[in-house]
Amino acid sequence: IRTLDDAAVDGKRVLVRVDFNVPVRDGAVSDASRIEGAAPTIRELADKGAKVILLAHFGRPKGKRVDSESLAPIVETVARVVGRPVGFADDCIGDVAAAAIGNMVPGEILLLENTRFHPGEEKNDTAFVAELAANGDVFVNDAFSAAHRAHASTEGLAHKLPAYAGRAMEAEIEALTKACEQPERPVVAIVGGAKVSTKIALLENLCEKMDAIVIGGAMANTFVAAHGGDVGKSLYEPDQADLARRIVARGEETGCTIVLPKDATVAREFKEGAESWDVGLDAMPDDAMILDLGPHSIDTVKAEIGTAKTLLWNGPLGAFEVPPFDRATVEVARHAAELTAAGKLTSVAGGGDTLAAMHHAGVAEKMTYVSMAGGAFLEWLEGKSLPGVAVLKK
Ligand code: 3PG
Repeated sequence: IRTLDDAAVDGKRVLVRVDFNVPVRDGAVSDASRIEGAAPTIRELADKGAKVILLAHFGRPKGKRVDSESLAPIVETVARVVGRPVGFADDCIGDVAAAAIGNMVPGEILLLENTRFHPGEEKNDTAFVAELAANGDVFVNDAFSAAHRAHASTEGLAHKLPAYAGRAMEAEIEALTKACEQPERPVVAIVGGAKVSTKIALLENLCEKMDAIVIGGAMANTFVAAHGGDVGKSLYEPDQADLARRIVARGEETGCTIVLPKDATVAREFKEGAESWDVGLDAMPDDAMILDLGPHSIDTVKAEIGTAKTLLWNGPLGAFEVPPFDRATVEVARHAAELTAAGKLTSVAGGGDTLAAMHHAGVAEKMTYVSMAGGAFLEWLEGKSLPGVAVLKK
């Protein structure tokens, strides 16, 4: 992959694709992680004398201008996080963009309005790519988390301009390669979350690559039920039983141990402060539901990562948003953070709720790498080629 080390940017107009698709609550950015992630690339380019032109999408406006999906309200946060003034242009193509870019001097930073206000963005159509490309000399993609989309600003532009990976993109690829493609062994994956049905391809691919997969979250209930266990009133997917059995069988063939829970924290209601207790899954009460791993299963998972050199984590182990059902996620995350700090473990986490779970456990900064990507992280784990990454390799 070509990186900023290979790019000549001094005095050049550099179009930088970032992912500023950040959560906004009451008009304010509630989690600036993705902006923080892109900041080093933005500052490095500005320091190297580039005119830094930021391209980003926000929400899913479907090719139309939608005021509630404008990037204008986040410019202030971007400027604060980057620590430099950041300008804004009300359109990413046409006269408005050209005029704003024409006025830039080297080292300046400009954010262009939501690329998805134009239908050509998601269609990746040639005319729209050409309009974007007219505003730049060099293309830098720093949006790993949007790299599973073959859109004009994530893929098309890389065919038109000299294209490089930004620092955040580089770090994501390096972390995922270390955890998934060339891991130091033994390598263990923790896969949690609610549904097996959304993780089929991922589990099948990881069976080929991991030495063990720990199954947690409500999707573990489907595995337990598929193997004749009792799950009481728990959430599970009866129609995925065959698949769960097939994955365990595949693991046996490839030498990948599938670790299933043996005990659980259960409750009759899923709400904060509800009465909860620990049971062995051989004594599961009919009127209760499984909401977290039990203490013995937590010890098993800790032991599993204790003997591993690499951990890949996607999805919480229990219903961590509602205490006390966050115990397994928090205890295991803290254990992984300790092993990482001691230099014994490379720990990579990401996808969906995982970033929130790591923040909740207070370890987001303590893992080797926590990804800011959702769908792109999952697609990588499924073994798919991400168009926005593939194009940078050519
Ligand atoms: C994300 O938030 O995961 C990325 O920004 C991609 O957004 P999308 O799912 O709307 O393409």
